[in-house]
Amino acid sequence: MSTPQTWHYGLVAEWWAEFNTDGPEVDYFGRFVEQGQPALDAGCGAGRLLLPWLHAGYDVDGCDVSADMIELCRARARREGLDPTLLVQALHELDPPRRYRTIVACGVLGLGSSRPQDQEALRRFHTWLEPDGTLLFDNQVPYGPQMRWSLWPKEERARLPEAWPTAGTRRRAGDGSEYELRSRAVSVDPLDQSVLLELRAEKWRDGVLVAAEEHPLTMRGYLRDELLLMLDRAGFHSVDVRGDYTGEAPTPDHEFLVYRARP
Ligand SMILES: C[S@@+](CC[C@H](N)C(=O)[O-])C[C@H]1O[C@@H](n2cnc3c(N)ncnc32)[C@H](O)[C@@H]1O
Repeated sequence: MSTPQTWHYGLVAEWWAEFNTDGPEVDYFGRFVEQGQPALDAGCGAGRLLLPWLHAGYDVDGCDVSADMIELCRARARREGLDPTLLVQALHELDPPRRYRTIVACGVLGLGSSRPQDQEALRRFHTWLEPDGTLLFDNQVPYGPQMRWSLWPKEERARLPEAWPTAGTRRRAGDGSEYELRSRAVSVDPLDQSVLLELRAEKWRDGVLVAAEEHPLTMRGYLRDELLLMLDRAGFHSVDVRGDYTGEAPTPDHEFLVYRARP
């Protein structure tokens, strides 16, 4: 199986480490981690969830397919006096040093991977959970804004790739340098239920462009009942689904569904 192709490298990894440092997911998933340790933050990225959980005293390991994200996570952990076990591993190749009572995969499933890899990732989660353990993951619904649902019909797909937007999202980092991200949809494959996006990242210092990169990313959208079948096939027979990070029963208006599955 090929390595999942995500855009979380280089400047994009720096963006994540610099600007994506909080959000409702930290406390929402953290409550489950508090009650079930040791835990694995699968697809931990630069440590947005992992590092607050370590500071809270939880016993948590992390893994991610991107060595750049893991390196930035490790560097921040060391700066903050922490030394977690961090693995560079794709979810479908998960092979950690111990079993867990909680595995959290936040913002990861369906990114850059193939459908068989996603199924294998769920199977590995099952393998690496204790019998009384809990798997938690979120998944952006395919009809949500990121998945470009409106581009799925044939006549809309014919207009792709989109032109690059003239301006993107620009932010100033702690060291004074500025980062800008722009994204566009390149293609949509309704049979694979995936959209291919490209991200252009630029870094500026004192008004001078010092680095520019482009990275691709595929995102696969899963409908709820499809994921329930995949979870069942992976050995999870008790599954609860909630909307966003609220604990509410899911409605058609929730953008993220959160799955809580037990073996
Ligand atoms: C949207 S970020 C989320 C990071 C972190 N979970 C958070 O919530 O801050 C997605 C992360 O998943 C990683 N990733 C994507 N596909 C992966 C895969 N198949 N296996 C492991 N990590 C993956 C990326 O490298 C990236 O760090």
